[in-house]
Amino acid sequence: MNKQLLFVKRPQGEADASTWSLETNPIPEIGEGEILIKHHYISLDPAMRGWMNEGKSYIEPMAIGSVMRAGSVGEVIDTKNHPKFKVGDFVSGFGGVQQYAVSDGTNLYPVDPNLAPLPTYIGTLGMPGMTAYFGILEVGKIKEGDIVVVSGAAGAVGSIVGQIAKIKGCKVIGIAGGPDKCKYIVEELGFDGAIDYKNEDVNKRLKEECPKGLDVYFDNVGGEILEAALGRLRMHARIVICGAISQYNNRAAMKGPRNYLSLLVNRATMQGMVVFDWASRYGEAALAMGTWLAQGKLKSKEAIYDGIENFPQTYNRLFSGEKLGKLVLKVIEDE
Ligand SMILES: NC(=O)c1ccc[n+]([C@@H]2O[C@H](COP(=O)([O-])OP(=O)(O)OC[C@H]3O[C@@H](n4cnc5c(N)ncnc54)[C@H](OP(=O)(O)O)[C@@H]3O)[C@@H](O)[C@H]2O)c1
Repeated sequence: MNKQLLFVKRPQGEADASTWSLETNPIPEIGEGEILIKHHYISLDPAMRGWMNEGKSYIEPMAIGSVMRAGSVGEVIDTKNHPKFKVGDFVSGFGGVQQYAVSDGTNLYPVDPNLAPLPTYIGTLGMPGMTAYFGILEVGKIKEGDIVVVSGAAGAVGSIVGQIAKIKGCKVIGIAGGPDKCKYIVEELGFDGAIDYKNEDVNKRLKEECPKGLDVYFDNVGGEILEAALGRLRMHARIVICGAISQYNNRAAMKGPRNYLSLLVNRATMQGMVVFDWASRYGEAALAMGTWLAQGKLKSKEAIYDGIENFPQTYNRLFSGEKLGKLVLKVIEDE
């Protein structure tokens, strides 16, 4: 049987248990040219909150009654003459929150569990890692000596952004919630400084950590932290708008920065990015980051929780911050 999490109600504000329904259905039959994938791990991402909303976005909103959209990694266990994938292959894609998925192979990537643990392929070597790589290098256009500030710094995207910027010779300051995460990004990941936005005055601490201002701000959170960063721009600074998690559960309108004219004064650029625009270059990023991982220059951390039935409370950790690194749910049951 196939345990599936269906999306049954569009939330207003925070999603809760009534947003989803856990169902058990027969494992689907595959047709000619299709494969059956047994999922091992599901990716939990802040973007999920946006996918639940109606309205125009970079991707279609999820339909009520559909399987909850999610990145996934698993093993091919059956095929009917698929031209590319065979039984025993491991693949990553958007299979949704369910234990088994049928696919014709579209947007599926082969992965090798001998080169990296499977959860890494939905983290550092998957969508969040690709976001970090192209966001900081192509949109942030970092160069040696730049002062880089990143929010959500202990998370899946932010932790990789900061480490890539260090590899490229930048000074890196991370903004994260709580002393443990701040200690982690400095002591384990090698950031130059950390600001604990839950316990410190971000404006004051940014001034201390970046007395001459910042060249690149990589924004994962939006809101007041974006505004504080805009107040510290150097000439020709670049702001990468990657996400705004502080605003995703708003019932009222999103809060934008009041001081955006700092862009004018400093001839700065603020640019939004969507990782899918770089899909044709994922291979290049995976090779670079795989090499850094093997060399010990890049550290990948996953927070893995167990059981598809625990999806709602695990998802909430994205917003409470009660996890360290990439949030992953193990959905394969021990046989
Ligand atoms: N544009 C794209 O293509 C793209 C692709 C992937 C991800 N993203 C975006 O990138 C951002 C990070 O994603 P991720 O997967 O790496 O998630 P993540 O950072 O691993 O997890 C979310 C983190 O956000 C922090 N957070 C939650 N509420 C917050 C608030 N009100 N203010 C400040 N921080 C808050 C929490 O850390 P603390 O404990 O530090 O608060 C939490 O751990 C998200 O905004 C996401 O939507 C964009």
